[in-house]
Amino acid sequence: MSKIRAAITGVHGYVPDYVLTNEELSTIVDTNDEWITSRTGIKTRHILKGEDQGTSVMVVEALKGLLKKTDTNPEDIDLVICATVTGDAIFPDTANIATYKTGMVNAFGFDLNAACSGFLYALTVGAKMIEGGTHKKVIVAGADKMSSIIDYTDRTTCVIFGDGGGAVLLEPTTDPDCGIIDYMHRGDGSGEKHLYLVAGGSRKPATVDSVIAREHFVTQNGRPVFKAAVTGMSDVVKKVMAHNNLDAESLDWLVPHQANFRIIQTVAKMADFPLEKVMSNIERYGNTTAGTLPLCLHDYEPQLKKGDNLILTAFGGGFTWGALYLKWAYDGDKVKRLD
Ligand code: UT7
Repeated sequence: MSKIRAAITGVHGYVPDYVLTNEELSTIVDTNDEWITSRTGIKTRHILKGEDQGTSVMVVEALKGLLKKTDTNPEDIDLVICATVTGDAIFPDTANIATYKTGMVNAFGFDLNAACSGFLYALTVGAKMIEGGTHKKVIVAGADKMSSIIDYTDRTTCVIFGDGGGAVLLEPTTDPDCGIIDYMHRGDGSGEKHLYLVAGGSRKPATVDSVIAREHFVTQNGRPVFKAAVTGMSDVVKKVMAHNNLDAESLDWLVPHQANFRIIQTVAKMADFPLEKVMSNIERYGNTTAGTLPLCLHDYEPQLKKGDNLILTAFGGGFTWGALYLKWAYDGDKVKRLD
């Protein structure tokens, strides 16, 4: 009997309406369009505005769109895994809020926190639930409201991040020409010192002093993270390519985490892979943390064909990183888009 694999049978992305431009940022902090564009490739990012608007707002939009595009009944969903570092609250989990708000009454849900690698790790977990034979329809979402943990007086971080996310539907397949085939994930806790939130967790709960000291915002040492990101991602991409006998010719798309366009260019170069086959939308969204990979798949969906070979790769706080190889399961140009 053919092996059961998990195939991505639909994708939908969502970004909030408000567009924060480089021009507007240059009125908030000492920066300019030239610096941001040349150092990061980012022109705009989207921001979720308004009272009581948490990450679940974006996850719910992504889930609703995904159900509609795939013509799926919410009651048929078994499980929702939501990758995020900016859940609505420390608990309950955002996946559970989203399943409730979308009528997925037979689903259970949980959040997974691996920073920018969250979606990749969650996709692997979701795929294993399908491969195990116990789950037939699993949704994997990745979304972050980074504006909720960004210090808009810190020019080294506020120009990079944005809000947004997306979700994919996973279903079982025995078709050898589609599905999630292989992955390699890595972690290195010594990277904690380069990308972190000081306070708000159990080690240093929120106090008046921690708020005054602005310790609830992202702190990043950009250069060491940049270096580790290009080394880490290019290493696992090359290993996954070699393990699956893929080369620049047979691989159709590289789907990298969108943290910095210079990182994307360098990883492509180190993996000896042409930039024309590398997905990128960082110019419009910035770094949406767990949201970047599903947003890329959503934007490039019309160009994807059944059987296309894709490698997804990500690197994030922790450090966490990885790469995942899949064969795309449908012709994207035949899907009715909602936007
Ligand atoms: O997704 C999670 C993983 N995160 C990443 O992968 C991010 C990795 N790191 C990066 O993408 C880059 O390191 C950054 C975009 C964060 C920074 O770019 P960089 O080329 O590494 O700049 P830098 O930190 O070395 O700073 C260069 C200069 C400094 O000025 P001096 O010391 O040379 O006078 C900074 O103060 O640029 C200055 N600078 C800015 N200038 C204008 C830093 N931020 C800004 C800014 N506008 N927004």
